[in-house]
Amino acid sequence: MTLDLWINSVYIVAALLFILGLKLLSSPATARRGNGVSALGMGLAVSVALLDQGIIEFKWIVVAAAIGAVIGTVVAKKVEMTSMPEMVALFNGSGGLASLLVGWAAIEGSTSIFVLATIFLSVLIGGVTFTGSIVAYGKLSEKIDGKPIMFSGQRVFNGLLVLLILVSGVMFSVEPNDNTMWFALIVILALLFGVMVVIPIGGADMPVVISLLNSYSGLAACAAGFAINNNILIVAGSLVGASGIILTQIMCKAMNRSLANVLFSGFGSVSGKAEKIEGEVKPISVEDAYYVLEAATNVAIVPGYGMAVAQAQHVVKELQELLEANGCEVNYAIHPVAGRMPGHMNVLLAEADVSYDILLEMDEINPRMDTVDVCIVIGANDVVNPAAREMESSPIYGMPVINVDHAKTVFVLKRSMASGFAGIENPLFFKDNTRMLFGDAKESIGGLIREFE
Ligand code: TAP
Repeated sequence: MTLDLWINSVYIVAALLFILGLKLLSSPATARRGNGVSALGMGLAVSVALLDQGIIEFKWIVVAAAIGAVIGTVVAKKVEMTSMPEMVALFNGSGGLASLLVGWAAIEGSTSIFVLATIFLSVLIGGVTFTGSIVAYGKLSEKIDGKPIMFSGQRVFNGLLVLLILVSGVMFSVEPNDNTMWFALIVILALLFGVMVVIPIGGADMPVVISLLNSYSGLAACAAGFAINNNILIVAGSLVGASGIILTQIMCKAMNRSLANVLFSGFGSVSGKAEKIEGEVKPISVEDAYYVLEAATNVAIVPGYGMAVAQAQHVVKELQELLEANGCEVNYAIHPVAGRMPGHMNVLLAEADVSYDILLEMDEINPRMDTVDVCIVIGANDVVNPAAREMESSPIYGMPVINVDHAKTVFVLKRSMASGFAGIENPLFFKDNTRMLFGDAKESIGGLIREFE
């Protein structure tokens, strides 16, 4: 067997491990294993890529890999669960930058139009992903203003930018001997375009953008794979590209928005005429909430971003067990975009060892919400906002939400009357059957647990 055949055989094994890893990642029960399997595939792919006979010097590869491994390990260990999207943004940005650099390195000796065109694509998509991800990171971490930035003539400006990029790409690809100036122009324009595509997008839509940028980083890697004729890079890039776009689509659907609306509408930059919310806010004490829960036979817990902030998942699990011991049926209702990243609530509840059998998706719980005695909303806001059904003027009108207001009683655990990520008022807090249990979610639930005990 020739070395080439060996390398490609191991690449096939690595590709199969990636696919298996992705499959396992699709359920919270197997996601950890999925991550491990994919990492094994990547380990194999990287090791075998080092057998490439074109490599002249290993020293710097080892140094770079060691530095990267240390940074990756430290950052992954230190990152708070709530900052995970920021970290993913930085990962995507690094992936984009890597593809840009691979494309750049592949220029030397390349004369075929096809190869030059793939270099152009890897530099373009990589550059856009890099600066786009940095802006997304800045918005998510609130290092820069999260509001959409829009100005007159923005679309014309972006249109011209695209035109210029395409012209530069064509000139770069057809002029192998004298294309340095075109290449420099492509790099600059791609970096600028990355900033331009992300600034008009509001902070609340950033998780969707992160997923889209993830997809771009895959496409950039795929193009880089063609540029350096590396099969595993093509396969891995395509898998990332496809899974990123599928996830983007799932999130858009969960918010009842089109991708174009997310990318171009500047959500939250203009607020429509607010409709008046009827009703009054009725706070409840921990003791009174306990009496209601003590008598309940069917409870649904709806976690949201606030549960992550309060790190209340472990006490929530304790409360669930106390309720069950009291003869009550307890389920969790999970909205697909609750929290700040896909699967955020599943990850937190898995950490607290909550059984997957009692996690119900929105579509499963909504039809039976009227049989629920008490719905405990823990730091969720937008994903339980009935304005999405009732108020046509609401920016989230049409978004599928968990119909907690259809339960007999609703307890909302949050610290104040502040709005959620979308920055809009929530009529749920004013409904007749809603009681507000104000305070940090972990403390409020701790209080309920003490009452039970
Ligand atoms: P949000 O609407 O952001 O509401 C979270 C609530 O938690 C806030 O109103 C806050 O109220 C409360 N909170 C914060 N810290 C708390 C604490 N320590 N104890 C108790 N409550 C606390 O959350 P959600 O309902 O999960 O909705 C998610 C939002 O993100 C949606 O707008 C969704 O469209 C958007 N989004 C998510 C994703 C993904 S993938 N998850 C993707 C795109 C967009 P107080 O400040 O009053 O406590």
